[in-house]
Amino acid sequence: MRTGLWCCAAVAVLAVGAPGVVRAQEVTGAAVFHVRCAMCHGAEGRGNGPMAMALNPRPIDFTNPAKRLATTDSAVRQVIRHGRRSMPAFSGQLSPAQVDSVAAYIKTLHR
Ligand code: HEC
Repeated sequence: MRTGLWCCAAVAVLAVGAPGVVRAQEVTGAAVFHVRCAMCHGAEGRGNGPMAMALNPRPIDFTNPAKRLATTDSAVRQVIRHGRRSMPAFSGQLSPAQVDSVAAYIKTLHR
């Protein structure tokens, strides 16, 4: 899908292209999510990214709060930093601020 690729390239540039620029936490979180997480969690966080099929267990649907296992903010950050089952750890790849931003972004996906 051409538009999808363009979108990811654009957020990748956003995420790494301008360090030190202060942005709304949500914007940074969205960029991190689309670059690092969407391949498994899906562009809309529904747990249906292209890699999700190969995972056991599969990622949950972030838009459905009833499905959540990590119910507190600190538990969400814990999973992002250290991983859980087929979810990889990101502590070596994301700064603490990026972990906070992407955790905040995930929260906005709940409806
Ligand atoms: C390789 C695929 C993969 C990638 C990449 C990935 N995840 Fe996950 N994630 C998973 C899977 C699978 C689970 C479910 C783990 C479980 O059931 O124990 C999960 C679970 C989670 C959970 C816990 C959800 C809950 O409430 O139980 C959070 C939060 C999360 N991921 C955030 C992220 C973020 C943020 C990123 C990007 C920085 C990311 N994930 C990247 C596969 C992935």
